[in-house]
Amino acid sequence: MKIIMLGAPGAGKGTQAKMIAEKYSVPHISTGDIFRANIKNGTQLGMEAKKYMDQGLLVPDELTVKILLDRVAKEDCAGGYVLDGFPRTIPQAQVLDNALKELDDQIDFAINVDVPDENIVRRMGGRRACLSCGATYHIEHIPSKKEGVCDACGKELVLRDDDKPETVKNRLDVYHQQTQPLIDFYEKKGILRTVDGTVDMKDVFAAITAILD
Ligand code: AP5
Ligand code: MG
Ligand code: ZN
Repeated sequence: MKIIMLGAPGAGKGTQAKMIAEKYSVPHISTGDIFRANIKNGTQLGMEAKKYMDQGLLVPDELTVKILLDRVAKEDCAGGYVLDGFPRTIPQAQVLDNALKELDDQIDFAINVDVPDENIVRRMGGRRACLSCGATYHIEHIPSKKEGVCDACGKELVLRDDDKPETVKNRLDVYHQQTQPLIDFYEKKGILRTVDGTVDMKDVFAAITAILD
């Protein structure tokens, strides 16, 4: 099963992708998590990506596409995967499409987690992220057991650099300009499914599993 998660920054793509990955035993692949891991480890890629991410801009396709194609070529992806944060531009979607076509393969569903902009800005300020294992929490909706500490790995939780209100606004603008056109792209292919992302995360997940089962 090959799934793409679509949705604005903070719509809950990562939250849902992790639950999907667990239930259907497929890897969760987040380009954002890959970039953040590289930033944390001080790699060349991380330093380059950070310049864009801190401004709320997209990392150029040249950097992003290769990383994603290398990742999905790994053995653990043979049975499928859930992509979170990729593709984010029409060219990225086309590259993925072509790579899959060569393998006589295709994406099964593009799941659009729909949340209006007003809700997004409120959500982001409360998000806390673990830069070690990628887990995310929300100080009100999904708190960690111990404040500021990751339940999964025990490391420190932080407010992401790009979750400051001014940057969130840029990310939303970039989303509407560059990523939202993908909704049409997958609609035309007949694989788009939209779920209401404003309800409780368990209800969002129930709507998604109803599609996938
Ligand atoms: P990325 O890491 O993908 O960030 P994003 O798309 O901005 O999305 P987020 O991770 O912020 O939100 P999410 O939808 O995963 O929501 P979450 O589940 O955390 O990308 C970061 C940057 O990397 C980009 O800006 C770009 O620069 C670069 N990048 C990455 N991929 C790229 C690509 N392909 N091309 C180019 N550049 C790329 O939930 C948000 C919060 O809400 C959490 O606190 C959560 O606990 C809470 N929450 C979740 N669901 C609910 C619910 N139902 N009710 C209440 N609260 C909820
Ligand atoms: Mg995410
Ligand atoms: Zn952690």
